[in-house]
Amino acid sequence: MGRAKKAVLAYSGGVDTSVCIPYLMQEWGVEEVITFAADLGQGDELEPIRQKALDSGASQSIVGDLIEPFITEFAFPAIRANALYEGRYPLSTALARPLIARRLVEIAREVGADAVAHGCTGKGNDQVRFDVAIGALAPDLKVLTPAREWGMSREETIAYGERCGIPSPVSKKSPYSIDLNLLGRSIEAGPLEDPNVEPPEEIYAMTVSVDAAPAAPQIVEIGFEQGNPVSLDGVRLDPVSLIRQANALAGGHGFGRLDMVENRVVGIKSREIYETPGLLLLIKAHQELESLTLAADVLRTKRQLEQQWADLVYQGLWYGPLKEALDGFIERTQQSVNGSVRIKLHKGNATVVGRSSATNSLYVPTMATYDAGDQFDHRAAEGFIYVWGLPTRLWAASRRR
Ligand code: ARG
Repeated sequence: MGRAKKAVLAYSGGVDTSVCIPYLMQEWGVEEVITFAADLGQGDELEPIRQKALDSGASQSIVGDLIEPFITEFAFPAIRANALYEGRYPLSTALARPLIARRLVEIAREVGADAVAHGCTGKGNDQVRFDVAIGALAPDLKVLTPAREWGMSREETIAYGERCGIPSPVSKKSPYSIDLNLLGRSIEAGPLEDPNVEPPEEIYAMTVSVDAAPAAPQIVEIGFEQGNPVSLDGVRLDPVSLIRQANALAGGHGFGRLDMVENRVVGIKSREIYETPGLLLLIKAHQELESLTLAADVLRTKRQLEQQWADLVYQGLWYGPLKEALDGFIERTQQSVNGSVRIKLHKGNATVVGRSSATNSLYVPTMATYDAGDQFDHRAAEGFIYVWGLPTRLWAASRRR
């Protein structure tokens, strides 16, 4: 692989990605580095980040608002899939990576770059997600990963940056490694590396503590159309506003924190703290509406496939064939997921208290009721059970012999 001339670098404004700029040029002979910083609703001010890339030696610094596609093309499919990695983590970070990769590739085409670059280390999942996505979307582009190869400690990285005129972080360095976007925050490192240590309250920003949550419960009604959340308490909202409000509502009641030990793609177990209030609330409501509107066999099959969907997104296979095939199944099931779910938020809990669907409910009162309106043929059960239990009775009889 020859030298790259022009590289588009995924840029966050942090020390590592800033040092990537001079490093790529001085050590690897890249002639021009163009940075791209994505707005994913993380709430950072992007103008200082744009300027910092130029100050660090970038020839061009691009910032792009990806919030809308992030929600409609990545978060909503995850809600329809009830995607929870290892049964818990709703993939708030993982979902952003294939979108950033897609935009990096588009920019590379626009500026005529022959490489893309990112500042991920060799231990994480994000490198896997970026590299696999870029390889699928643009096999001709080189992928440059300086932080995976430079072998510098944090102090050495800062010193390298200072020699290149990159100011070292001014604020007292937080011991935590944080990734954030509109869907949530992930917090790692520092004292959290001991999986037996309780996370300090200071790490949270999107959720209040159970102590600080209001004493009074609040019920929210979430409306869905074809598996997509479309309204809160009867008010129709665009996808981005809906996520913002769901975050504020759930987070304000202390719901949406996770503390888990998860299995990374590279084989490491890591202790992760997440706060993803809106996404967890919406997945919970969506699952509930499916219990009312999907047939039993479809529901059970979907629950199995959902785990595979979550696994493959976590593992960086967003642009792969299984994702496409599973999406086909999921999309077909979602045609009947219309209706609403009421959830009571109270002191860190989100409890489903009601579900309804005017058009697609498979709950039939005359079948379910124990009252006078009962239309279920009780005598039909006898013949059914005779046949259903036959193999068990035959097997049990043979064992008695
Ligand atoms: N463990 C989570 C994931 O793989 C969070 C990763 C956070 N990324 C980061 N660069 N801090 O999705």
